[in-house]
Amino acid sequence: MGRALIVYTTRTQETLQIGDLIAEGIRFSGQEAVVCDVKDIKKAEDLEGYDAYVFGSPTYHGEMLQPMKTFLFLAEKADLANKIGGAFGAHGWSTEAQERIYQTMKTVFKMAMVSGPLLLKSASLGGGLQMAQDYGRDIAKKIA
Ligand SMILES: Cc1cc2nc3c(=O)[nH]c(=O)nc-3n(C[C@H](O)[C@H](O)[C@H](O)COP(=O)(O)O)c2cc1C
Repeated sequence: MGRALIVYTTRTQETLQIGDLIAEGIRFSGQEAVVCDVKDIKKAEDLEGYDAYVFGSPTYHGEMLQPMKTFLFLAEKADLANKIGGAFGAHGWSTEAQERIYQTMKTVFKMAMVSGPLLLKSASLGGGLQMAQDYGRDIAKKIA
């Protein structure tokens, strides 16, 4: 069984809810998923032992939240090249955080990304539940 690590930051829990649904989709497909607050990742070694990584932050003031920025510098020290990757996060009207995280994972960390970041306003609006679970299934498919 493969393992995926979902690391999120959030202010009002929407991004956590999306992350939990992605984890469900991964588990429905027979792989293991761990959901972790960015604050609980203290060192690069905490990222060892996973096949896939999904990082998420909401967009505030046109950017990702500071804890995710700090976390990406830590993740740079882990060797994530060729690992499976995805990015997500809640937003209101623009998607800078999700795009920036995705591009960093793809171009700086050189990860094998699933197609596009998951761009959802929330877990519950506009088919969000299904889309988030399907994103998890895509991650799981790439692991398998
Ligand atoms: C002060 C403030 C600034 C925001 N700035 C943006 C923004 O620049 N772009 C955007 O799409 N949404 C923006 N939002 C909306 C949040 O991204 C949205 O509420 C999201 O669901 C929050 O996710 P969270 O619950 O994970 O914190 C803003 C919200 C607040 C309160």
